[in-house]
Amino acid sequence: MVMPRVVTAETLDGLSEDDPAAMRSRRDLQRIHRVMGTCGIVGRALRAVTASRPGPARLRMLELGAGDGSLMLGVAKSLKREFPAVDLTLLDRQNLVTPAVVAGYASVGWSAASQVMDVFDWAAGKGVPPPARHAPAGWDVIVSNLFLHHFDAAPLALLLAAVASRTTRFVACEPRRAPLALAGSRLVGALGANAVTREDAVLSVHAGFRGHEIGALWPLTGARWITDEYSAGLFSHCFCAERARVPGAGAP
Ligand SMILES: C[S@@+](CC[C@H](N)C(=O)[O-])C[C@H]1O[C@@H](n2cnc3c(N)ncnc32)[C@H](O)[C@@H]1O
Repeated sequence: MVMPRVVTAETLDGLSEDDPAAMRSRRDLQRIHRVMGTCGIVGRALRAVTASRPGPARLRMLELGAGDGSLMLGVAKSLKREFPAVDLTLLDRQNLVTPAVVAGYASVGWSAASQVMDVFDWAAGKGVPPPARHAPAGWDVIVSNLFLHHFDAAPLALLLAAVASRTTRFVACEPRRAPLALAGSRLVGALGANAVTREDAVLSVHAGFRGHEIGALWPLTGARWITDEYSAGLFSHCFCAERARVPGAGAP
């Protein structure tokens, strides 16, 4: 079955933060993540990109399109032994991170701060100054979950270029554009998902990725990268990139 990539604005993105349907849809998303096994998939990808070359004792991590931060909180809990100290910035254009979520991070030794801004403002260099101690690389890890699929190829390439210029490692977990994922997306109503989630789940799969579509947009100029792009679990598609070590250079 040929499934061309089609990016359509999702309903949730047009709703205000406190719209009851949006709040309910974000809770649906937490259940959908459990079914997709996203937490484990992201945890394994983060372990993989740091395995050959552990980062500094205190890792600087940025999540793009972080939503309410609850997914990464699950990842933080599962990784607390490998990553006991992380300064995490949760960037989203909506202000969704609650004090309870921030406290959840603190309970596993991570500090979490939210940055409310559009990711393309970030890409243009506004807000969130990259940590100076690793200049010019910036962040130790940038991560995104169910986020890159919001963007068509041209803006996505621009975003990936900004990511590559500001981190040494990148992990993305997206919907897989495949018949099984499409079938699954049509069944989210069985999990009790509301109309917003039911519609967005299907749109997300049509806008998702397969093969080496994210890698094809990763910048070819600048630093050398080791990249990996693969299907994960039943419904997900991952892209990981690690900046290749320069012989003779120290960590990270
Ligand atoms: C599908 S949700 C995923 C949230 C979270 N990463 C997760 O997996 O639970 C996508 C998020 O991207 C955010 N978003 C969409 N477009 C954005 C943009 N241009 N800049 C920043 N955030 C954006 C939305 O506000 C939303 O919270």
